[in-house]
Amino acid sequence: VCGLRIQGLTLSTTRLDPPVIIARKRDGEELRPDEFRAFLAGYLDGQVAEEQMSAFLMAGLLRGFSREEAVVMTEAMITSGETVDLSDLRGPTIDKHSTGGVGDTCTLIVAPILAACGAQVAKLSGRGLGHTGGTLDKLESIPGCSVDLTAEEFHQQVSKIGIAVAAATQDIVPLDKRLYALRDVTGTVPSSALIASSVMSKKLAGGAEHIVLDVKTGNGALIVDPDQAFELAELCVAIAEAHGRKAAALVTDMSQPLSHAVGNAIEVAHAVEVLTGQRGGRFRDLCLEIAATGLALTGRGPDDAYGQALAALEGGRAAEVFSELVAAQGGNPEVMDRPWEVLPTAPVVADWAPGAGRVGAMDTRGLGELASGLGAGRKHKEDDIDPRVGFEMHVGIGDVLAVGQPAVRIHAANEYDRDWALGRLPDLIEISDEGQSPPPLVHARIGGARAR
Ligand code: URA
Repeated sequence: VCGLRIQGLTLSTTRLDPPVIIARKRDGEELRPDEFRAFLAGYLDGQVAEEQMSAFLMAGLLRGFSREEAVVMTEAMITSGETVDLSDLRGPTIDKHSTGGVGDTCTLIVAPILAACGAQVAKLSGRGLGHTGGTLDKLESIPGCSVDLTAEEFHQQVSKIGIAVAAATQDIVPLDKRLYALRDVTGTVPSSALIASSVMSKKLAGGAEHIVLDVKTGNGALIVDPDQAFELAELCVAIAEAHGRKAAALVTDMSQPLSHAVGNAIEVAHAVEVLTGQRGGRFRDLCLEIAATGLALTGRGPDDAYGQALAALEGGRAAEVFSELVAAQGGNPEVMDRPWEVLPTAPVVADWAPGAGRVGAMDTRGLGELASGLGAGRKHKEDDIDPRVGFEMHVGIGDVLAVGQPAVRIHAANEYDRDWALGRLPDLIEISDEGQSPPPLVHARIGGARAR
C-alpha cells in the first residue's frame, strides 16, 4: 500500500485484497484507515462480495473494532450518499435517536416537545424490524398519514411548522442501508462500533447541530449488557463531537416494555393520551428526560430545559404540535380527540389475568416478538404489518396483582392469534410471591448537561 501526494491530494493506491483484510480482522488486527476505506468502497462498487462482507462483519463483531475504525466507517457511510443542509432554518436544530426497543414511542412525544420549545426538528426515522418497533410504521397507522416526503417537502414542512418526521430517502447513507440489511440477516447487529457508525452516520447526514441519543440496555435492547451500552453511548457522543456537533446520550432501561403499549396504532393511542395529559408513568418520565437533555444542549440551563419541556407537555403546546405534524403529513388530526375511534382497532380483544402475585422479570425481547408474531412487526423487510394488533401492558416489574386482575390486554386479528398469544404470556412475564424491584429508568448519562 502506498499513498501518492499530488498538490495536496492523497491518491490512495491501496490494492484491495478482500480475503487478506477478512483474515486480518479475524486475527484481531486493527485496519489502517486507508485500507479500511478501500474495503468499504470496494463493497459499494462490487469488488467485495456480500459473503466477504458478511464474514468481515462477523469477524469484527467477535474481535472488536477500534474507535478509529468506527470513525472511518461512519465517514464512509456519510460520504456514500447525500447530506441534508438545515443551515437556513431559524432556531436550533435538534435530532433524537433511539437504538430501538419494545414499546418505545418516545419520538412521538419528544419531537413535539422539542418543536414546542422552539427547536427545529427534522427527523428521519426508521421502520420496525424483528422484535423492535419503528416510528414510521406507528405514524402510518394514523389514517392518511404519510411518511414519504420528498427532500423539498421535508425541508419546507420544517421551515413552516418546525417539525417533520419522515423516511430517509435512498440517497442518504446508502452504505448503511446495505450494511444494515446484511447485518440483520447475518447475526451481526449487536456490535458497538457497527451500531455507532450506523446511527451516527444517519444523524450526521441528517444535518442537525444538536443530537440526543437514547441508548437502550436490558433484555429487550440490541445491546443487553449495560457496560457495553455505556461504551456504545460514549462512542456515539465522541463521533458527534469529532464532527463538531453537540451531543448527549442517556443509557436507559429496556428490561421491560417502556410504554404500556406495544404495537402500532395502540402505541399511537397511548402517546396521544400522554400528550393530552391523560396518561403518566415511566414512559412519560423518560420522554421528558430525553427532551430536557436535548434542550440543554442548545444552551438552556438544565433546570430551565426540564421546566420548558414539562410546560410544553402540561400546557398542551406539544399536543398542538403533534396535531399540526399529523395534519401536515396528510393524517387525520382528530386522532388527538378520539384516538381509539380514529385509529384502526383489532377485531379480537382479550385480557390475560395470571392470578395473585408480584410481577418479576420479563422476557422483553420475547414480548417484542409476541407483538411481531401478532402482525405488528415484520420478519422480512418487504412484509406488510397489521397496524391494529399488539397488546397493552397494565403492569410493570414490581407491581402487585390481585386475583382476576388483568395484566395484559391482547389485540389480535383473529381468535387463533389471540389463543397463541395468551398461551405465550406465562413464559414471558414472571408472576411469583417474591416479584422484583422496578429497575431504574436511566442507567447513565454521557455528555451534555444533566437535565434537573
Ligand atoms: N439502529 C440503527 O440505526 N443502526 C443500528 O445498527 C442499530 C440500531
